[in-house]
Order: sequence, then structure tokens, then C-alpha cells
Amino acid sequence: MSSKNIIIANWKSNPNSEEKATKLFRSVKSLSKTLKNSTVIICPPVVFLKALASIGILTKCKLGIQDISAYDGGAHTGEISVSMVKAFGVSHVIVGHSERRASGETNIVINEKIKTILEAGLIPVLCIGEREREHGMWYLHEVKKQLEENLRGINKNKIKKIIFAYEPVWAIGARATRVATPEESLEMSIYIRKVLSDLYDTNIAKTVSIIYGGSVDERNASSFIEHGGVHGFLVGRASLDPKQFITIAQA
Ligand code: PGA
Repeated sequence: MSSKNIIIANWKSNPNSEEKATKLFRSVKSLSKTLKNSTVIICPPVVFLKALASIGILTKCKLGIQDISAYDGGAHTGEISVSMVKAFGVSHVIVGHSERRASGETNIVINEKIKTILEAGLIPVLCIGEREREHGMWYLHEVKKQLEENLRGINKNKIKKIIFAYEPVWAIGARATRVATPEESLEMSIYIRKVLSDLYDTNIAKTVSIIYGGSVDERNASSFIEHGGVHGFLVGRASLDPKQFITIAQA
């Protein structure tokens, strides 16, 4: 496991102009210089990549994107390929976000996307997480199935490169029913390592990076780092406020 914390900003479909996007990026970039042991990765809408890349990428402040085509080019209307985004210095790609799963993205497609991302030498940020916790231990099976199907056919040397983002769907966004507890995050981080140990080996299970996402803010961030078994975050709403985002990164 990397000793560095990884804080990923998922801007989703925000902001609504290039001017606002560059302003936000400049603020985060400047504040990120104060970070000691964390790397921040900003994932804007792809239309802003060129403008943000021209402002410059730092070792502590990198660029990522929120989704990618499973194909590197070809007849795929509306898709953005890995080669296109690599040209702007993108290093990380979010894949399998629950908002994309909810609009029909299957585990098979996510598996293809992860292979394409790894093939291009980029780092996948694989989002996994249950839709609800109502029915006994079913939520563990749901996450296990995601891991098994999303990672199928990927060898263990490549698995080490993936960042696993545990994002319980019920804790994400403005419609979150509640915030997860650090204990729930810890339980799932142990479970993810157990599944990876069964699928690969204990070394892989121990070394992979696991981060948490879902209603992270400046008040709850440090308790997840201290007790949640994770060493970073995938942040949605709070990433649109540079000061709050950097406070989370300092947690
Ligand atoms: P949130 O979003 O921080 O606004 O809950 C997290 C995410 O969707 O990754």
C-alpha cells in the first residue's frame, strides 16, 4: 500500500463554464502546494481538460477523468478514448462509478474499460459499493460479484496498479440516506482485501490502495483516515469548494 494519501475530485457535470473550471483548478493547484503526504487528482468534465492541462500539472495535483470508452478509437459514437485524454497528461480514470452503473453500465463493460485503461498505462480508479444494506449480509455478496466480474482476466501485476474506491451507493450525493461510518468503511476495506486475497494472493490483498467515497467533507474526513481502513477519498460535492477540498486532503 502506498504511504501517500490519494484524494480524487469528481467534479461530475460541473462547473458550467471553462472560466469557472480554470478558476477552481487554479485554486486547488495553488492550495495543493501545502500538502505534505497527499496527492490530489482532479477529474473535470473532458471538455475542460485542454484548458486545465495548459495551466500545468504538478506531482501533487494531477488530472484524471470520470469515464472512458472501452475502445481505443473506432466507430463508437460519442465516446472519448484513452489516447485522446493521454495527450492532455491525464493519469487516472474513474471507472464503474455508481451513477454510470445506474444508467446501465454492466460489470462486463467495466471489465473491458479497466483492461483498456491499464493497456494505455493509466491508473483505473474502480468504484465498487452496494446499493443498500437492508438485507443481512447481501451487501458483501454484491461487492464480491463486482470485484470478481470487474477484474476477470486481469493478472496480478496489473491489479496492483488499480485504486479501489469503496462507495456505498446509499451514501453518495445529495440523495444520500446517511453518511457511512468509519466502521462500515473499515469492514468493507477488510472484505475487499479478503476477496482479493482469494482471487489473487495475500500480498496483493495487503498492498492495493483502497479509498472511500460518499458524502466526504471536512468534518468526517479525518475519522475515515484514522478508523476507516482507507488512505484517501473520492470526493463529489465537497470537491467544488477548493478550501474544503484541500482541508479534506490534509486530514
Ligand atoms: P459525494 O459524491 O461526495 O457528493 O457524495 C461522491 C461520488 O459520487 O463519488
